[in-house]
Amino acid sequence: MQIIRDLATLRAASAEARREGRRLGLVPTMGALHQGHLALVTAARQVAQTVAVSIFVNPLQFAPTEDLSRYPRDEAGDLAKLREVGCDIVWMPDVPTMYPPGSATRIEVAGHAEGFEGAARPDHFRGVATVCTKLFSQTQADVAVFGEKDWQQVQVVSRVVADLDLPIRILPHPTVREADGLACSSRNIRLTPDQRALAPLLPRLMVTVLDTIRAGAAPGPVLDRAARQLREAGFVPDYLALVQPETLAPWEGGRGRLLAAAKLGDVRLLDNMAL
Ligand code: PAJ
Repeated sequence: MQIIRDLATLRAASAEARREGRRLGLVPTMGALHQGHLALVTAARQVAQTVAVSIFVNPLQFAPTEDLSRYPRDEAGDLAKLREVGCDIVWMPDVPTMYPPGSATRIEVAGHAEGFEGAARPDHFRGVATVCTKLFSQTQADVAVFGEKDWQQVQVVSRVVADLDLPIRILPHPTVREADGLACSSRNIRLTPDQRALAPLLPRLMVTVLDTIRAGAAPGPVLDRAARQLREAGFVPDYLALVQPETLAPWEGGRGRLLAAAKLGDVRLLDNMAL
């Protein structure tokens, strides 16, 4: 496993893969790797002969008030996990390598990026879109695997790739969950034991909401009731919404996606499920 911290070495490794006719798969991450991330690496291995994982806590996608400094970091643990699951290249640039002094170009996505996480976290998707575009360009990857855990992120990044004609395929991967249903997340380790015990109520309620809507109930009252139940249990729900899967416009029948965000203490839990 090659650990690379400078762009020239990365470019050489990518060119070598290309020369040897090996397809390059990329899994972008911010580290503190868990089973969800590792499942993406395994999925990348199935479609690419050379697998690269990037680890970069991207300051551009955190607001000044957010948890950038508290974001979990575990370089040694991450590298051990990647060695075990099987990874060829780990791309670990530092902030000045990713954003050298004078860096001024940002990728702005209208529409998809404006509601939900975009409304809760202004500029978040500008940071995500900018760093992903750079990662695609730096690695020259053929395919990039993203988790459906961040459903809106998959839609935003897919939009960027389509709009900028980037020669890369975005491969979404289903959300990986703990045994009790909570979606794996790097932030889960910041939950207290009591909050951790309460957290699976979110996916459980989401399953109930979807079952009720599938049985013919109107979504509005069902979503309101679930949000109330979350509040009563101690969550601070931000949104619970049924949308069209790709455009995130309000659901109008047919395929749908239930999106949820709720705070438990100072940890923001994010989840989504297919109708
Ligand atoms: P991060 O939160 O580290 O997630 C990296 C990738 O892992 C994302 O594609 C995310 O959707 C996926 N992932 C996280 N939890 C998952 C789970 N439980 N099941 C399946 N996939 C999961 O998302 C980011 O980093 C950043 O925004 C990034 C794309 C790296 C840009 O900085």
